[in-house]
Amino acid sequence: MAAPSAASANAPSLPDPSFAALLAGRPMLSLREGALHVEDVPLARIAAVAGTPCYAYGAGTMQARYRALKAAFAAQSLAPTICYALKANDNLAVVATFAREGAGADTVSEGDIRRALAAGVPADRIVFSGVGKTEREIRYALSVGLRQINVESAEELAMVGAIAQALGRRAPVALRVNPDVDARTHAKITTGLTENKFGISMTVAPALADLCRDHPGLDLVGLTVHIGSQVGHLEPYRDAFERLAALARELLAAGHPIRAVDLGGGLGIPYRDEDGSRDHHAYAAIVKDTVGGLGLEILLEPGRWLVGPAGVLLARVVLVKTGEARRFVVLDAAMNDLIRPSLYDAWHGMLPVDGALHAAPLSPADVVGPVCESGDTFTKGRLLPALRPGDLVALLDAGAYGAVMASSYNTRPLAPEVLVHGSRLDVIRPRPTYAEMLAQDHLPSWLAPPPASATG
Ligand code: LLP
Repeated sequence: MAAPSAASANAPSLPDPSFAALLAGRPMLSLREGALHVEDVPLARIAAVAGTPCYAYGAGTMQARYRALKAAFAAQSLAPTICYALKANDNLAVVATFAREGAGADTVSEGDIRRALAAGVPADRIVFSGVGKTEREIRYALSVGLRQINVESAEELAMVGAIAQALGRRAPVALRVNPDVDARTHAKITTGLTENKFGISMTVAPALADLCRDHPGLDLVGLTVHIGSQVGHLEPYRDAFERLAALARELLAAGHPIRAVDLGGGLGIPYRDEDGSRDHHAYAAIVKDTVGGLGLEILLEPGRWLVGPAGVLLARVVLVKTGEARRFVVLDAAMNDLIRPSLYDAWHGMLPVDGALHAAPLSPADVVGPVCESGDTFTKGRLLPALRPGDLVALLDAGAYGAVMASSYNTRPLAPEVLVHGSRLDVIRPRPTYAEMLAQDHLPSWLAPPPASATG
């Protein structure tokens, strides 16, 4: 068994990249006339329209990334079906941006499937993943005619088979195998080790394939693998895809009519200047080398790579507190808006929106939110200029696993989301009002306030 790697995506010893380096690596962002822009829209204008904190996404950046990924595969003479992983950012407008490019969708719940369909993704380009699909969800997936259900265990295969049989259908299933490969990413987002809850052991898969052949409710259409997320070293992909290819050959030789291999997602992005490689051309070359010769359709499930760099979390400085030992910059954004730093010790770049501050002298600061937990810290000891209350800052690479993981902890409204397209700006999810938030709760009658007449 492969041993889990201790490697985290964020080695704390790296020096922070300069503002200029952060900008240079992010074509979506630019300083124009002294103001930070997302594509052609100044972030200050976004703050004026949507308020802060808010998420701002660049549609042109998403389109460019989708096209770049497609082109990297075309250069290898491959035309994979790119099933955008909705879990990274499920806003309908974001999903629709990819749907317009021809993307399919990787979904993990009935809600995800409904979103993908509502955004215009054809059902036959939607895959359904996840370790705990409920009976209701499986039934729903079959009723809308999804492309395939990625099955995670023998138990789930039996469940899907029984449900499909009862409905008089054959469920298109792909077996998700666990290749026992260490993706060398953060322990909380690695998935391809036997100790992880995901997938079917490679040794058991052939027997399950035989079971599908004999089952009236099952149609084995493919194999799938997903080794983890924020993968920053490509060799684990080569290992995993080689093992998948070997299994596919074995099943094809045994007469199983599999049509596709689904290679999952996980390709990382540079948040800082981590070592390793997240190069999509090299990734495409590995896919070509390993599964390109099988003659099977290839599916991919990228999330973060497509949307992560296409979003920022825009926040305003509430106050700057001079502590005894440190300077605390308190933002109006908090861990409930972007939980990655608290949950994974994730590092996100941070840029002042006022270009004049990019050239100002720097000193270390801890950047925190207003929530009453010490974990509500975006970064410690970050070199920043003398920020003042009211200044705007952008937390970078927040397009993936940002808004989707937000909560209304502390009765803080979910941050709104804005989509920029060239020079236009649309609010694609408004900030809920307090009235809307309070209206979600219902007081049982025995707790309802007594009528005014009874109180006198
Ligand atoms: N396919 C499957 C089966 C997955 O489990 C995932 C992610 C993806 C595709 C998309 O992976 P991506 O290309 O986005 O890496 N919340 C964490 C990431 C969790 C990823 C879970 N699965 C974070 O903020 O880093």
